[in-house]
Amino acid sequence: MKGVVLAGGLGTRLHPLTKITNKHLLPVYDRPMIYYPIQTLINVGIRDILIVTGGTSAGDFLRLLGNGKEFGLEHINYTYQEGEGGIAAALSLAEYFADGGKICVVLGDNLIERNVKRAAEAYGRQERGAKILLKETPEAHRFGVATIEGDRVTSIEEKPAVPKSRYAVTGIYFYDSLVFDMIRTLRPSARDELEITDVNNTYIARGEMTYDFIDGWWTDAGTLESLHRASHLVQETGANKL
Ligand code: G1P
Repeated sequence: MKGVVLAGGLGTRLHPLTKITNKHLLPVYDRPMIYYPIQTLINVGIRDILIVTGGTSAGDFLRLLGNGKEFGLEHINYTYQEGEGGIAAALSLAEYFADGGKICVVLGDNLIERNVKRAAEAYGRQERGAKILLKETPEAHRFGVATIEGDRVTSIEEKPAVPKSRYAVTGIYFYDSLVFDMIRTLRPSARDELEITDVNNTYIARGEMTYDFIDGWWTDAGTLESLHRASHLVQETGANKL
């Protein structure tokens, strides 16, 4: 399985920190933010990684990460997103890289305390479809929110005012190659983006979506509060434990 880190976007929720740099290059405790999602992929045994980025500081990713030597990699792949189009639009740029195989996608501002090995192994055994990772949180309204019945995900709502559950959809996803056909059928949402939640709901409608939970803490780092919290969590407990 190959891995994709989505690290584009304008990071407007972090202005002025992101006025002159990309959100994913900002520090989270002792490392640039993008180090954490890369490590998340490496910890499930993925060695073939694509970074999708954009904007004016895209070249800084190459200067920072190079060929991934710090991570024990021999090579990192990069691609450039023209303009802004949302998470699903960024993911569509990974089609040539995925080359018909399964992928693990991590949003560049998602950090975890432990690892997602169990989910990755289970997905490896899954014949087709997708898998999402959930985390119970009192702040579900800030995220995609999943409702589940037994071992099925029945729906996902993107940032609902009144969440139907406390299960946030985290930014770690497993997809088969059908994801790229699905993205081609999407229409922009109210915030004028191609939403990853619409992709996930398409898999749910086909009966091809499974889920697991994340062990340990999970946080995004895309707002001032969560960026601050992420640094504290990493300082207190460390991240990406095996
Ligand atoms: C995105 C997704 C959302 C998900 C979140 C995880 O939201 O749209 O479904 O719960 O990432 O971090 P964003 O924060 O990019 O608006």
